[in-house]
Amino acid sequence: MLYRCCFNAYIRTPMELLMKKIQMVDLIGQYQKIQAEIDKAVLDVIRSSAYINGPEVKSFQADLEKYLRVKHVIPCANGTDALQIAMMALGLQPGDEVITADFTYVATAEVIGLLKLKPVLVDVNPDDFTIDPKAIEAAITPKTKAIVPVHLFGQCADMETINAIAKKHNLYVIEDNDQAIGSNYTMKDGSVHKAGTISTVGCTSFFPSKNLGCYGDGGAIFTNDDELAKKIRMIANHGQSVLYYHDEIGVNSRLDSIQAAILRIKLRHLDEYAAARQKVAAYYDKAFGSHPKVIVPKRVSFSDHVFHQYTLVLKGVDRNELRTYLASKDIPAMIYYPVPLHMQKAYRDPRYKEGDFPVTEKLCANVISLPIHTEMNEETLNYITENTLAFLNQ
Ligand SMILES: Cc1ncc(COP(=O)(O)O)c(C=O)c1O
Repeated sequence: MLYRCCFNAYIRTPMELLMKKIQMVDLIGQYQKIQAEIDKAVLDVIRSSAYINGPEVKSFQADLEKYLRVKHVIPCANGTDALQIAMMALGLQPGDEVITADFTYVATAEVIGLLKLKPVLVDVNPDDFTIDPKAIEAAITPKTKAIVPVHLFGQCADMETINAIAKKHNLYVIEDNDQAIGSNYTMKDGSVHKAGTISTVGCTSFFPSKNLGCYGDGGAIFTNDDELAKKIRMIANHGQSVLYYHDEIGVNSRLDSIQAAILRIKLRHLDEYAAARQKVAAYYDKAFGSHPKVIVPKRVSFSDHVFHQYTLVLKGVDRNELRTYLASKDIPAMIYYPVPLHMQKAYRDPRYKEGDFPVTEKLCANVISLPIHTEMNEETLNYITENTLAFLNQ
């Protein structure tokens, strides 16, 4: 923002004089640090002409399998496709019930609806924002076939409990891991598993702003099940088993070679990116942890938090006023998510009404996410926290 000064020239706002523009995510800053590597990798793909299913895709797949310690990674075009392909490969049929969280990004429920499966929405925990296992158990019917927990904002749902429920009722578990790639999950026996590899199948998105984001769209599916992996690979490629032999109706969902080349480089930085995000979260925790008007995000004992988002729950604060105040100081803030799924126009269903999912409804009305990314410095964090506190304390 530019101000006009008395000499009719433009001067910068105080914030701009101090630092560069604050963003929810700084993709350019992140790129600049690895620019030489990225530029070379992209040029190499262009010069190779292996744009689709080239060696970079296979190498990225192998790198990610190693990082996640999972038998199969199947790259695809985006995180929404990943969920859809996983559900198709599991053979879910129209009318089958799939339980998922009411508090999530729409894609989770969208694919359930698109495949004519029946989304069964349940409430979430108020403090970690992930699906409530007790609510899952209460929603199971003879038609239930799968559970889709979402590792919302970067921390895993209670997978050990969810897996036990699934086992008891013979259900598939599809992890929506679009927001928590790299997070470690510690089982009660002490074994550690990467988010997305803890159940039947896991799905992720490489949307640019994700913790592992490419420079376009991308996604992947993870599984340790050989037969399922074969089916997923086939469905993602037009249901093709052998070239031009199509065993079932599939989709066209590919990660392109340029994106794979970029992701290979960024994967090497993923743990350091998570550490940078955790440092930001710790700074925010320190500033807001004891404030009576906000609740900072809870850390569960069994999962790392890789902070795709840092989300506060406001208590008795006018969220719009806070957002407007922050905007006046050039501080962006986002609402993830403003409307519970059961209140979205496209997902209205006579089974659900306002008040059915009180935790989600309360969260949707009171959450606010602050900027968090890999390129934040102390000066920026100080500016954000001081201004937020100035509003909260007035
Ligand atoms: C929880 C969740 N599920 C699914 C998706 C869909 O991923 P994509 O945008 O790559 O299709 C996203 C992406 O925003 C997400 O956050």
